[in-house]
Amino acid sequence: MKFFLDTANLNEIREAAAFGFADGVTTNPSLISKEGDVDFKQHIAAICEIVQGPVSAEVTSQDKDGMVREGLEYSKIAPNVVIKCPLTRDGLKATRELDGQGIRVNVTLCFSASQAILAAKAGASFISPFLGRLDDIGHNGLVVLQEIVEIYENYGWKTEVLAASLRHPIHVIEAARLGADIATMPFKVIDQMFSHPLTDAGQAKFLADWAKSGRK
Ligand code: E4P
Repeated sequence: MKFFLDTANLNEIREAAAFGFADGVTTNPSLISKEGDVDFKQHIAAICEIVQGPVSAEVTSQDKDGMVREGLEYSKIAPNVVIKCPLTRDGLKATRELDGQGIRVNVTLCFSASQAILAAKAGASFISPFLGRLDDIGHNGLVVLQEIVEIYENYGWKTEVLAASLRHPIHVIEAARLGADIATMPFKVIDQMFSHPLTDAGQAKFLADWAKSGRK
């Protein structure tokens, strides 16, 4: 399973890349806004200098022509830029057109298997089901993820399943068990994945015993 960073923060991306945890990056308008008054295209270019894998840049137009125009423009920033289009009617028309021009599209804001089927048929390179936001409204995001993985496998569709809106390590573990191609997560979730009190206690004891034995 590939790890993508769900952030637009350059320090977090650099930190994850140092561990080999940044196979790609997903940004969205909210994440870019959190970085302050940055120039969008320059910021995406800066991310692409750190990460070799797919870096998602999301369109903000509502209509198909505007999305295609933005997609064509952003795809020139770097060869690893992937265009993020919303799972709307216009978004899927734009996906089809961009895919036809050899530009990879990450279809975002997916909340059901039926939407994921449409995205794959439209030519999405990635589908992003939002697990956490489904959980937030009392639906089980993992069930939707499981349905999508199963359906895509039935037909050998090339669209990669990118588990998104992950909020905690259990989401990552279950996404891996279900066979998601990619998990995109905030840096905070990577931090949580590291932590175990027995590791800390064990390390402290080893070092204390070592010091007690008089070794340096
Ligand atoms: C995916 O590409 C989105 O950027 C992201 O996973 C949304 O997560 P959130 O629901 O925590 O905002």
